[in-house]
Amino acid sequence: MTTNTDSKKKDETRKGRTKRYVPNLAEFYFKPAFDWSKAEAENLYSETKSPSPNFELDTISFEDCVVGMKRLPDASIDMVIADPPFGIAFNGKSSVYNRDERLVVEGYEETSESYQEFTSRWLSKLPRIMKPESSAYVFSGWTNLDAVLQGARDAGLVTLNHLIWHYPFGVYTKRRFVTSHYHIVLLVKNSQKYFFNKIENYPEDVWSVKRQYRTGLTKNATTLPLEVVSRCIDFSSKPGDIVLDPFMGNGTTAVAAKMNFRHFLGFEINEKLRPLLEKELAKAKLGGSYIPYSDRLPTAEELAKTYPKAYREYVRREKKQKRAAKRD
Ligand SMILES: C[S@@+](CC[C@H](N)C(=O)[O-])C[C@H]1O[C@@H](n2cnc3c(N)ncnc32)[C@H](O)[C@@H]1O
Repeated sequence: MTTNTDSKKKDETRKGRTKRYVPNLAEFYFKPAFDWSKAEAENLYSETKSPSPNFELDTISFEDCVVGMKRLPDASIDMVIADPPFGIAFNGKSSVYNRDERLVVEGYEETSESYQEFTSRWLSKLPRIMKPESSAYVFSGWTNLDAVLQGARDAGLVTLNHLIWHYPFGVYTKRRFVTSHYHIVLLVKNSQKYFFNKIENYPEDVWSVKRQYRTGLTKNATTLPLEVVSRCIDFSSKPGDIVLDPFMGNGTTAVAAKMNFRHFLGFEINEKLRPLLEKELAKAKLGGSYIPYSDRLPTAEELAKTYPKAYREYVRREKKQKRAAKRD
């Protein structure tokens, strides 16, 4: 009888591995693909110039994004984060969304054309303005996913990943499953050239993050958690990059960008959101949540609690290496 372990050993011999495979040992040696100290990140941030005299960096234009994006120069955007309107009869005020209606800003815009037409129209504007290394993260509920995937294909963008943002406590249902996830479609312009900073050894495509309810604070009808948006920024941009959000809403992308030494540009059709956006941005500290990626990784001692066997091997190999270094 051959076990999984036996066949793994045979495989290793075939591949000619010199070192024994130890599950999870790679976690102890992992280093982010790219990293910057806080001073380096700040420097890169200060060096960025606006790609066009039409747009001052770190501003939001209150207009239809399809019109606005036409004024952006070719290959001027490093990354896109888009959380378009749902395209369903939702104005964010239903009591099932567990919000105080008086705190939701009026003027949330839904679309009048078909959702597919709307989606294809705005997605088709992305490839021209995206740099070859650029990625776009598009948020979508499952009911609109078809339109996003179709629109992306029509625009010539390549789907690189299909992320699931799982949030606990979706809206209560009686005769169907509770929806407790969003889709985040990761699109790239050039599948051979896109920028991806592998900042974790094993970055999975399901992210569990609680929704933000901002109890008692004025808000747009829908707001993404800062953590989810920051994660997109961390993996697909560098400090100093320009992140575009065509549907700025409450300004989560702008806040996440500013707090991580990235610049933003954005569009928002609802002018009534201006005071709220200004307030959110004034509160956000430049570089306030920036931590070099290697400093975010767990230490060997922290990893030891989850992977004790791999830790023992790590300690053994480290000692061996030190002894060899002393001899040399
Ligand atoms: C789902 S919300 C975005 C929420 C945002 N991600 C946040 O975290 O606050 C969509 C936003 O798009 C805006 N919007 C709808 N159609 C638009 C268009 N054609 N151009 C620009 N903004 C639009 C809506 O007013 C709304 O604020």
